[in-house]
Amino acid sequence: MAKSRATFICQACGAVAPRWQGKCDACGAWNTIIEETVAAAAVPAAQRTRRKGRSIQLEPLGGSSEEAPRIASGIAEFDRVTGGGFVRGSVLLLGGDPGIGKSTLLIEVAAKLANAGRRVVYVSGEEAVEQVRMRAERLALAKAPVELAAETNVEDIVATLSEGTAPALVVIDSIQTMWTETVESAPGTVTQVRGAAQALLRYAKKSGATVVLVGHVTKDGQIAGPRVVEHMVDAVLSFEGEGSQQFRVLRALKNRFGPTDEIGVFEMTGGGLAEVENPSALFLSERDLGSPGTAVFAGIEGTRPLLVEIQALVAPTALGTPRRAVVGADSSRLSMILAVLEARCGVRLSGHDVYLNVAGGLRIVEPAADLAVAAALVSSLSGAALPQDAVYFGEISLTGAVRAVPQAQARLKEAVKLGFTRAVLPEGGRGEGVEGIALSPVAALDRLVADIAARSPRGLRAAAGREDNR
Ligand code: TYD
Ligand code: MG
Repeated sequence: MAKSRATFICQACGAVAPRWQGKCDACGAWNTIIEETVAAAAVPAAQRTRRKGRSIQLEPLGGSSEEAPRIASGIAEFDRVTGGGFVRGSVLLLGGDPGIGKSTLLIEVAAKLANAGRRVVYVSGEEAVEQVRMRAERLALAKAPVELAAETNVEDIVATLSEGTAPALVVIDSIQTMWTETVESAPGTVTQVRGAAQALLRYAKKSGATVVLVGHVTKDGQIAGPRVVEHMVDAVLSFEGEGSQQFRVLRALKNRFGPTDEIGVFEMTGGGLAEVENPSALFLSERDLGSPGTAVFAGIEGTRPLLVEIQALVAPTALGTPRRAVVGADSSRLSMILAVLEARCGVRLSGHDVYLNVAGGLRIVEPAADLAVAAALVSSLSGAALPQDAVYFGEISLTGAVRAVPQAQARLKEAVKLGFTRAVLPEGGRGEGVEGIALSPVAALDRLVADIAARSPRGLRAAAGREDNR
């Protein structure tokens, strides 16, 4: 019998520690190291017979493969994120909070491919076959010829899949529930998750099937995170959204075969996930017209323009150190904008709490959002609502200058499409302009601040004046 020994493994990063400790030396996470039993090699290394390597077939780089390299799922918002469809023999990891809709999304993709005549296998380790069927019925997909299994043993799954023609798509829901006999640790531990993923990866490369692994992400990282799996797979997709809202955004965090800046937008409805073809309209549908502190940002996500509402609340603080809270944007970017407003435009914010929110649960990473953020902040501080028909974009530099951003034309066209008639944008690099929208170029941030303050009933000084009055 194989001897086993105890090892201490960090469940967040997979690092091995010599003994139990509270903090992982490798990734710095707390309370993630647990004891796992790892089977010692059955045959001591010294007794293993040396095998002479066999020669492998080398192929020319420019050689051709006879089959189409990509299989489009037919769900446009999904294919956009993968970069045009599933690549044969690739492994994708789909991460997301429990209950966000991963299983729903994948059963829809699976049904679409199966209806197109591809062999598709859906293996659920979390739900019984009946439960998967019930969901499919609710989604009106019960007639799709998807092959179902409720199984968690990876060896059995691979053996089953190896019979008959190789499937085009295999869904494993979820990787945390899978276990392999080659590893002795309990299911759900990092060693098991890694072992199971390795076995499925080998299967995908050998058979040419695309394997999609579902991975749960918990906030505290208690479950063996798919972190270790992220390095092994070809693409990592993340399915995000606020639990209380119906929007869901699919984005690629890593993609060996496609872009990582495209997003797919879905809406969770009673009948499953619906594609959102015009996300700008959706994100702006519940705008709070006419109240101070909101600005519409004309952004670009990947290749697609996207309008979103930026909301700011600036209020006098009761604390010694004012609060800065950000949802959906980068907090260090906010600090920079606040510093530029103070230093270059004389807007005093050190006595105010600042809250910033991107409506609709979207996350913005573009520096082009700076101008919209600044406009929302100043609007909230001064109590002056911004014009309802205006969009904002532009990057703010530390000198207070407003810098040009790429794709001004695409942003303006999207704004026109949604009925906006005015754009506040950088002076430089604004291009030709677009019919139907008036341009208000600003070269420096203090110009924008002055414009907004001029609309204010109480004036900027009075609003910001807590310290001034002292
Ligand atoms: P699910 O796909 O099971 O989430 P995950 O696999 O990521 O854990 O989706 C669960 C949620 O989606 C659940 O709260 C109910 C909701 N839902 C709908 O609103 N409409 C639907 O048609 C379906 C199938 C689910
Ligand atoms: Mg699920």
